Amino acid sequence: MPTAPLASGPRAADVLRPLLGTVLDALAAGGRARGGPLPAGGPEAVATRVADVLGDVLPDHGDPDALRALVQTLAEGAADPADPLCAAHLHCPPLAVAAAADLAASILNPSLDSWDQAPAAAALEAAVTRALAHTAGLADALVTTGGTESNQLALLLAREAHGTGVRLVCGAGAHHSLPRAAWLLGLPDPVVVPAPSGVLDPAALDKALTTLPGPLLVAATAGTTDTGLIDPLPEIAGLCAAHGARLHIDAAYGGGLLFSDRHRERLAGLEAAHTVTLDLHKLGWQPIAAGLLAVARPAELAVLHQRADYLNADDDTEAGFPDLLGRSLRTTRRPDVLKIAVTLRTLGRTGLGTLVDQVCARAREFAALVEAHPGFELYGRPVISTVLFRPAGADDDTVAAVRRRLLHEGRAVLGRARPDGRLWFKATLLNPHIRPDDLARLLKSAEEGTSV
Ligand SMILES: Cc1ncc(COP(=O)(O)O)c(C=O)c1O
Repeated sequence: MPTAPLASGPRAADVLRPLLGTVLDALAAGGRARGGPLPAGGPEAVATRVADVLGDVLPDHGDPDALRALVQTLAEGAADPADPLCAAHLHCPPLAVAAAADLAASILNPSLDSWDQAPAAAALEAAVTRALAHTAGLADALVTTGGTESNQLALLLAREAHGTGVRLVCGAGAHHSLPRAAWLLGLPDPVVVPAPSGVLDPAALDKALTTLPGPLLVAATAGTTDTGLIDPLPEIAGLCAAHGARLHIDAAYGGGLLFSDRHRERLAGLEAAHTVTLDLHKLGWQPIAAGLLAVARPAELAVLHQRADYLNADDDTEAGFPDLLGRSLRTTRRPDVLKIAVTLRTLGRTGLGTLVDQVCARAREFAALVEAHPGFELYGRPVISTVLFRPAGADDDTVAAVRRRLLHEGRAVLGRARPDGRLWFKATLLNPHIRPDDLARLLKSAEEGTSV
């Protein structure tokens, strides 16, 4: 058997072109076989189909059809975020141009832990991270695998700046990765400030900051996972300044509003944070992973510095080779910045802003449909692109069962949230191509699921 061809090198395009054709055909065939937002039959049926196609994971002799077979199986068993009825999570349909750029990243395979593995990618990352940080009103940014890693890094920087006694103070709607990071980093138990209206209450925060011993790290959220609400950032920033508390803002969801002339104002106050989590695999239409942690004080990143002679020897650094190891806690690291840079340059701020405006508008329209429907109750007007609704008069068990039935039948992918103690369906609209009749179909699915 000939040696397996490589993805780069002089003949790579000849080898890759037919393989890409195979992949695209298999994606289409799998999507047709699925015929909806999710495979029908539930977890057991999907696992059986995967096991059947997979067979022996490591056979003695390989199968040249494996690419087609497994891609098709994965597509057939996918939750397709490009399907208008797939609307549960902050799980975006990626832009074609970003996915194409990501292929180039896979082929070139630069690794951003040393300049000699990623010369141009390193320069690109430095420029793009700074520019994105400036868009948020901060100085620099690190590329991460997403909101969770960004939040962890934010807490790590707070710990290194203020010591291991720094206590996290966050609202009840904060993402679970924040208290989890406090646990991981050995910080004191976080203080969770009640948020009965869904956002951090400035009066309750003021009380907490007045009574708790420091040092304190306040984590505000711009776009909560469950409801898409934005904490009152300017008031929170003012309180942090007054009490000498550090401020982190988790804008993993809401950060995308920065691209929109119409919605950017809602993020006023972001620039007052010490650190900001951004995540372009949510409201930025990037293939996973595309996280960032923006920092106001780049000097604080010095704590991430690491010397490993094979990657950033002192004499190489002194000779002018960039020292990249301190830009992450990871060592080998993909150039996720390439797809981000391609997207920013291809669409421009206006193009991205239009996508943001579209999903926000669709959410308002969906909320209006729910409100006008006598069989449903609306939780509240959407702030970003999340709409919570529930069948009027239904109990929580019914809401949970209907959602699972829709998943099992592969008819619609709705999320769930319990913002007020009651269980609601959650529709997170991240597909800018969704049309008004798709919204009506989404509501109809929930209605039919309820009336069975
Ligand atoms: C507000 C918020 N922060 C952080 C995260 C974690 O992001 P990731 O899943 O990219 O790690 C999420 C995920 O939904 C989120 O909604």
